[in-house]
Amino acid sequence: MTPREDETEAARTSPVDPWPTPDERAADATLRPGTLSEFEGQPRVVDQLGLVLEAARHRGHTPDHVLLSGPPGLGKTTLAMIIATEMGAPLRITSGPAIQHAGDLAAILSGLTEGEVLFLDEIHRMSRPAEEMLYLAMEDFRVDVVVGKGPGATAIPIEIPPFTLVGATTRAGLLPGPLRDRFGFTAQLDFYEAADLERIVVRSAARLGIEVDDASAAEIARRSRGTPRIANRLLRRVRDYAQVHNGGAVTLELSRGALELYEVDPLGLDRLDRAVLEAICRKFGGGPVGVSTLAISVGEETETIEEVAEPFLVRLGFIMRTPRGRIATPAGWRHIGLVPPDRSGGAQPDLFA
Ligand SMILES: Nc1ncnc2c1ncn2[C@@H]1O[C@H](COP(=O)(O)OP(=O)(O)OP(=O)(O)O)[C@@H](O)[C@H]1O
Ligand SMILES: [Mg+2]
Repeated sequence: MTPREDETEAARTSPVDPWPTPDERAADATLRPGTLSEFEGQPRVVDQLGLVLEAARHRGHTPDHVLLSGPPGLGKTTLAMIIATEMGAPLRITSGPAIQHAGDLAAILSGLTEGEVLFLDEIHRMSRPAEEMLYLAMEDFRVDVVVGKGPGATAIPIEIPPFTLVGATTRAGLLPGPLRDRFGFTAQLDFYEAADLERIVVRSAARLGIEVDDASAAEIARRSRGTPRIANRLLRRVRDYAQVHNGGAVTLELSRGALELYEVDPLGLDRLDRAVLEAICRKFGGGPVGVSTLAISVGEETETIEEVAEPFLVRLGFIMRTPRGRIATPAGWRHIGLVPPDRSGGAQPDLFA
């Protein structure tokens, strides 16, 4: 479950939204790489995680608890599944929002079998009492079940078999320190290089039985905002377009036509990204402007601006986050066809442009 799951499909129109649509969950499953060697990109994470798993196999122990953090659609769930597969261990999946009471967690933990991998998605959204129970379970493989109320309450310790917790979060900053410290290995997933995404597009195309030439794969990869989930989605949209316009064969010209139709620009900006940039430049004179003001002015949730539009715009060097708010850079002004103001205090250069 993601923070946006409760939204209707119609409310989400951007093809470069990194959160999955409900019907994409099934599609995701068919495109997921099954082993660490099939996992493209993220070389440092893959190497380090490979070592952690190898060492655990060697010692005959369960691997350390693993924390996976990073923006949506970069492969956290995929890696959790790979960890279980590589260890030959069963996988149990739950999520922070599903654990409202400590009792929910106690039930899950006491039902684990030895070596099982427990995947706790969106771990930052777990309730506080459950979190405290998790500390003990992670450290001592024990839960204290409290029986009774008030002064007569007693804690009954229950042993649980050694297991590996794999936590995933898009908001590592929201995790309390004591929880973060209990993970033996933390992997910070980063946006993918275009070359890695290109390989992912080619691989997914093969799995879906779509013929895609190299130039089209590169074009799709370039517009995918460093995110495999978006690359896979754009590939499916391009395929749909190609089926209608060209009997199915994907060419560069066709890919460009499709992506233009879906309003994904050559750098992967969608309508919201451009709206944010335009608002900063046109309504707020280039900033600084606070994120909540910005969100209202483009009619979006603050969370969406912060988690989706902003990281990407910052990464492209189009906006900057400052303590006083968001500022558009000269490159940002130019991307939407405007002339950046002369910040040196002189005359507006667009008077002379
Ligand atoms: N390294 C990779 N190589 C190939 N495909 C990948 C890779 N990483 C992710 N994918 C593809 O991207 C899709 C989304 O990945 P995944 O569901 O693991 O993301 P996530 O980080 O868990 O996202 P969320 O934060 O929304 O839960 C999957 O269908 C998978 O096929
Ligand atoms: Mg996930």
